[in-house]
Amino acid sequence: MPSVSDEWVPPGIDNTKAHAARVYDYVLGGKDNYAVDREFAAKIMSAVPDYPVMAKANRAFLVRAVEHLAKAGIRQFIDLGTGIPTSPNTHEVARQHQPDARVLYVDNDPIVAVYSGALLATDDLVASLTCDIRDTDRIINDPATTRLIDFSEPVGVLAISVVQLIPDEAVPVALAAFRERMAPGSYLALTQPSSEGDPAVVAHVREVMKGGPIPISFRSQAHITTFFDGFELLDPGVVEVTKWPEPYLAEKTGMLQIGGVARRP
Ligand SMILES: C[S@@+](CC[C@H](N)C(=O)[O-])C[C@H]1O[C@@H](n2cnc3c(N)ncnc32)[C@H](O)[C@@H]1O
Repeated sequence: MPSVSDEWVPPGIDNTKAHAARVYDYVLGGKDNYAVDREFAAKIMSAVPDYPVMAKANRAFLVRAVEHLAKAGIRQFIDLGTGIPTSPNTHEVARQHQPDARVLYVDNDPIVAVYSGALLATDDLVASLTCDIRDTDRIINDPATTRLIDFSEPVGVLAISVVQLIPDEAVPVALAAFRERMAPGSYLALTQPSSEGDPAVVAHVREVMKGGPIPISFRSQAHITTFFDGFELLDPGVVEVTKWPEPYLAEKTGMLQIGGVARRP
């Protein structure tokens, strides 16, 4: 599978406006993005040059959270808002501790399926679904989900840096649809940008994104904590991603990204 290039656009892919998955891929140092995505990232980085540090710290949180869940015995995962594959991916991390771990990847950007499909074609225990995370009925009833995910067993649901891209009222509804089905002992891991970071950074990113192709909702720690309703937050609660479960990065991250991991009692 070649990288996308400004000359090669897979069928069904729109390279005329920026997409979150490809902007994020660029910021992480990936090659699967277009000029429009790089220009969008440059606008953010003009005022937040260390934005890529945040993206990498967020990715490191995902790795740490999945390791934690796999060590706790979780063998099946739903990764909402997967992004373009970035090694190590959720199934690679989980399998270090649970060799038979099954993972359902869900992203609404068709480019994610183009890359995940190629990467996962030979792996029966992993599937990639192109779907909006708000379309919970479709996700839960899709044949790939019913094949891979057994809701009578504990499951790890990941919403890592995705819910900021859906409106306030939609987040609890989407999460509740999973929570209602998640067996006791299941986990939810979630991160998103905080509204309580550097006010100049928040104002700049809001301005760049206003009316653009990628709407974003910064939220307070108190608001983000409500997304874990019905779960018991693990220590240290909803904190800067670089501090979960303990501090591991002294570098400044530009944007304040916070999150936590919680268990369904
Ligand atoms: C910032 S990236 C995060 C990727 C990955 N979870 C991580 O943290 O490394 C956000 C991803 O969410 C996807 N996304 C945005 N809105 C979505 C929605 N409503 N439903 C499904 N996926 C969505 C984007 O396409 C993108 O791949």
